[in-house]
Amino acid sequence: TARPSTLVIFGASGDLAKRKLLPAIYELGREKLLPEKFALVGYARSEMSDEAFRAEFKQAVEKFARSSKSSVDQTLLQRILSAVYYHQGDYGSAEAHAALATKLEDIDKKHGTEGNRLFYLSTPPETFEPIIENLGKYTAGFGRRAGDVGEVKTDSWKRIIIEKPFGIDLPSAKELNSQLHRHFKESQVFRIDHYLGKETVQNLMVLRFANSIFEPIWNYKYIDHVQITVSETLGVGSRGGYYDKSGATRDMIQNHMFQLMALVAMEPPASLDAVSIRDEKTKVYKSVRPIRPEAVDQFTVRAQYTAGEHAGQKSDGYLKEKGVPADSKTETFAAMKLFIDNWRWSGTPFYLRTGKFLDEKLSEIVVRFRSPPLTLFQKQCDSPVYPNDLIIRVQPEEGIEWRINGKVPGGTMNIKPVNLDFFYKTTFNVEPPEAYERLIYDAMLGDQTLFIRGDEVEAAWAVIDPIQEGWRKSKLAPRTYTPGSWGPKESMQLIELDGRRWLHSG
Ligand code: BG6
Repeated sequence: TARPSTLVIFGASGDLAKRKLLPAIYELGREKLLPEKFALVGYARSEMSDEAFRAEFKQAVEKFARSSKSSVDQTLLQRILSAVYYHQGDYGSAEAHAALATKLEDIDKKHGTEGNRLFYLSTPPETFEPIIENLGKYTAGFGRRAGDVGEVKTDSWKRIIIEKPFGIDLPSAKELNSQLHRHFKESQVFRIDHYLGKETVQNLMVLRFANSIFEPIWNYKYIDHVQITVSETLGVGSRGGYYDKSGATRDMIQNHMFQLMALVAMEPPASLDAVSIRDEKTKVYKSVRPIRPEAVDQFTVRAQYTAGEHAGQKSDGYLKEKGVPADSKTETFAAMKLFIDNWRWSGTPFYLRTGKFLDEKLSEIVVRFRSPPLTLFQKQCDSPVYPNDLIIRVQPEEGIEWRINGKVPGGTMNIKPVNLDFFYKTTFNVEPPEAYERLIYDAMLGDQTLFIRGDEVEAAWAVIDPIQEGWRKSKLAPRTYTPGSWGPKESMQLIELDGRRWLHSG
């Protein structure tokens, strides 16, 4: 179990805190995973009293906690709230950080939190640097032994969780890493990617390495290609200002989708510890064949949504969204074809696509196997005989589906794809927990397995940078697509010209 500790959330009044982090703390309490001695400090710029912040916390739990649909355990909530505080300050203010250090010592005395501190940076990326500097100086860096502050135990821990975006390219990620390492050991740094907290994503490793039937065929000899789709139904809404600096590739592919790709593609790790698993994922990124900037239009498609209406949202088009310059080239959709040049994946394409304002919200990995060596049945069938798909549904309808061919009952030899299905909901009779619960808990335990290592994030950027460079130089403007579609037609061509198809393409 986790030791007594204080969680400090920078950006406590932000959207992520309200929707995910504060409800996750409550759920951990419900699951009895929160230490008995636990306190929380919300740090943000606006003026607010402790009481007002507690009221916000309560509202966030009532509105967003996954179990609040049934009922909120008010006794538990009150117990948590009795150790919740608010701290107002600019993120770069030395005085505010010094005052935070004092506040944390007082909390240690009052709540017995033993000097263990988890700092969560859920703030805009430009605040990372000042926060890290100040934390390093005043409260958490390895330069400060816990014994320096008050009467806390000297073996206490200090950890820092950093939200994405971790840099915008390789040089900025390196800079952020070296800044962190000026104050923190790598073992104190938890770079979060919430996709790794999803049950279905963790199950990927179980699927591959706790079963013996997949590994022998998990390679270029039997797998034709892998396609990964992460589609969302909403446009950028009010996030235009942030989103325009990022785009689909930085927002989703470099992190979430690359994690999915790495877990599908990696070699079996020597053990399940953080070092072995992260070593293997890093090797995958290092093996990705770089897309030369000149070849970017051959291997990638970027696009922006046009005017339209879908999923209850209406837009005059991405270029008209608030905070988006009218001549923006930022992509709200990206698709790419990557090759992992190693023995296992020689010549096997990995097609990735993601976008806002698409037909359906889903995150899914499709592993498509090669067709049988001889198409024995084709002549007798009315419809084509499809190759086998292993579909890993990350969300929604979390589960795994095998598509195999079966004979349609009757006198003729007719064949149809049928599904062998596994649904989390019906098999385990539970809703999978929210990703943030697991990840915050792991950070409290000090387990870095589901967090991104410094060299790993750099290796992932090294794949993205030449693509971004190619797009900057390309004469082709971003393509367009209508809200509610499956993306621009060029993203269909990207795969169809290879004689393949997206599983979902409208
Ligand atoms: C976030 C992105 O990291 O992931 C958002 O910044 C995106 O743009 C979100 O909507 C998607 O997460 P999920 O868990 O809903 O697939």
